[in-house]
Amino acid sequence: MDELDTTVAHPARRYNYWLGGKDHFAADRESGDQLEKHFPKVRLGALANRALLRRAVGFLAGEAGIRQFLDIGTGLPTADNTHEVAQRVFADARIVYVDNDPLVQEHARALLTSTPEGATAYLHADLLEPEKILAEAASTLDLSRPVAVLVMGVLGHVESDDEAKAIIDRLLAPLPSGSYFAMYDGGDTTADNREATRIWNLSAEPKYHLRSPSRIKALFDGLELVDPGVVPVTQWRPDEVEPAIDQYCAVGRKP
Ligand SMILES: C[S@@+](CC[C@H](N)C(=O)[O-])C[C@H]1O[C@@H](n2cnc3c(N)ncnc32)[C@H](O)[C@@H]1O
Repeated sequence: MDELDTTVAHPARRYNYWLGGKDHFAADRESGDQLEKHFPKVRLGALANRALLRRAVGFLAGEAGIRQFLDIGTGLPTADNTHEVAQRVFADARIVYVDNDPLVQEHARALLTSTPEGATAYLHADLLEPEKILAEAASTLDLSRPVAVLVMGVLGHVESDDEAKAIIDRLLAPLPSGSYFAMYDGGDTTADNREATRIWNLSAEPKYHLRSPSRIKALFDGLELVDPGVVPVTQWRPDEVEPAIDQYCAVGRKP
């Protein structure tokens, strides 16, 4: 199987390499270094995305009081996974992780390290099947209580804005008022990012499609945008000064 071939670079393992994780092989490191040579911001971008995930979950648990998370497009486990951040605030927080990559499933054990009071579960499922995800997540989450749905760095794989919006709406449809949706996505505002994505897409499957901040904002129609709205990931409630990155994010509350 493709995902077990350690001589060919795999996007999730390469991402893990940039993040300073331990689940990568020589081919992933070589490919990661190559890309970084051409686009020095790729590693910075991966780290900035991960820092945003930590701050967003910290806000959702710590300030919005959310105890249930549905994290779709989890990626390989690394430092500060969603349950670790959320359970530092609420030991009884419950988290369902979802990814469609068999490699992530293989490593999911590292995500199933909940506190005894809380719970974590892993679903091998596709973002394009929201009702199936919700039905399976209901074994771990109480969908009659607020849930934060995280779709971090994944919607770029869905090219059509209408389709992306429909997925978000279907995910939020059964959830009560006070639920949240959070995302980040690659921005199309710099030539560097457009070129890096063009090169990435020459070999990547599924391909990634960049969005403008205004297109990302439109995905939040019907939600109350949490301050500061749609901004570069490094500017969303930063806890340290970080350089700007062409990746945009936002968090919205279901009214
Ligand atoms: C860039 S990684 C982001 C990982 C993590 N959310 C983060 O922000 O660090 C994108 C992840 O989304 C997953 N993914 C892509 N398309 C998906 C789909 N249609 N359904 C579920 N997961 C998907 C990929 O397998 C990958 O693990």
